[in-house]
Amino acid sequence: MAAEIRTITSDELHPWSVAVRRGFLNPSDVDDSEQRRAFLPLERTWGAFDGDRIVATLRSFPVELTMPGAIPLTVSAVTQVTTTATHRRRGLAGRLVTAELAACRDRGEPVSILIAAEWPIYGRWGYGPSTEVQSFSVDTRRTALVETSSASVEFVDLTEFRTAAAELYERIRVRQVGEISRPDWFWDVDLGIVQLPTRPEVPRAFHVLARDAAGSVIGAVRYRVETTWEAMLPAATLTVDTLLSAGVQADRALWGYLLSVDLVTEVTAGDRPVDEVLPWLLTDPRRARASKRHDFLWCRVVDVPAALAARRYRVEGTVVLEVIDHQGLVSGRYELTGGPNGAQCGVSTRSPDISMPVSTLGAALLGGYSVRQLARAGQAEEHRSGALESTDLMFSTAAPPWSSTWF
Ligand SMILES: CC(C)(COP(=O)(O)OP(=O)(O)OC[C@H]1O[C@@H](n2cnc3c(N)ncnc32)[C@H](O)[C@@H]1OP(=O)(O)O)[C@@H](O)C(=O)NCCC(=O)NCCS
Repeated sequence: MAAEIRTITSDELHPWSVAVRRGFLNPSDVDDSEQRRAFLPLERTWGAFDGDRIVATLRSFPVELTMPGAIPLTVSAVTQVTTTATHRRRGLAGRLVTAELAACRDRGEPVSILIAAEWPIYGRWGYGPSTEVQSFSVDTRRTALVETSSASVEFVDLTEFRTAAAELYERIRVRQVGEISRPDWFWDVDLGIVQLPTRPEVPRAFHVLARDAAGSVIGAVRYRVETTWEAMLPAATLTVDTLLSAGVQADRALWGYLLSVDLVTEVTAGDRPVDEVLPWLLTDPRRARASKRHDFLWCRVVDVPAALAARRYRVEGTVVLEVIDHQGLVSGRYELTGGPNGAQCGVSTRSPDISMPVSTLGAALLGGYSVRQLARAGQAEEHRSGALESTDLMFSTAAPPWSSTWF
């Protein structure tokens, strides 16, 4: 009998959570449903049922995504997509994603977002990668800051850090294209204040804030240090878990502090933006060695006019897009007219300037990937000469989008 796809009831939270853990190779069956209930909307928590057993899972929650032009858009964040190993490759994940995408559109959320565990999974369902991150590693003995900061730095306890970092993040994310709002529970779980059995124990860490002359928090960093010695020489590595900065004074204060910690010879930071400012703060920028550049946030448009009208464009322009969607959710022709001050998009009968699969639209949505580059790879087609170039310019953003929030 085909598995039933539906949202779960309150009583099914524990077996659902065990199924999620199995999917992520965690054998724990501790009952954490009381903790989960607080932040898990049941009407958006899906299961595939084989009889009364839950054999595949998916859930979503609403967040605000910052679109180009610093426009907030409520979207659906999808997470905990798993299929139990005994039931894999029978189409269950596909059925859950399809059900959630239809519900997403019905709820009036024009875009579905997620972080893909593996690249090949989600393109088939119309998602495209839309932001990137990279890691940095600095040999602290070989470089220093060009200029110091007027901001002060101080250690704080976890409680103060949580409050200050959440407030600072909220100020930053509303202008950072690609970032999402973080629900309260995010901070509790991320900082290890609430420990869920599905997550590895959060290591103990140091918490430092940067303040300007008026005492306002302008930067926050959480880091860990692994202390090692080589033949009685210190060789500790400092790993940055989170670094939030409101501007150059905070960047200088935090990086300057991190690079100066005694006994530390290497500072590493992951999930940083691809236009990271760190190298430019250093006397020798080559000492900030970049690595592990990869995709992070993926977008799936479920309402083209609403998604495209909810952002601003770098230059004024008009383009007719033919969107191809194998799932049939948004297939059609759309005319977009937009610029730095506003945009409109609606269904069109005009002949298309460019055609593209909906996954390419997801990749271009935040300005992170160029339509022209994707066309070179056969993932968009130009029907009017010059249309790719002008559309690229419209969709491009002054700075690459960046998303640093795991969910
Ligand atoms: C990813 C996962 C949920 C897929 O579940 P599933 O029920 O086996 O997927 P489906 O049967 O619906 O697969 C549909 C298609 O996607 C393909 N596919 C699914 N997962 C894939 C993967 N990891 N790599 C490559 N292709 C994959 C299938 O081969 C199938 O292709 P086909 O239609 O051409 O035959 C499952 O493999 C899983 O639980 N993985 C571990 C947890 C995980 O990584 N979750 C994703 C979190 S973002």
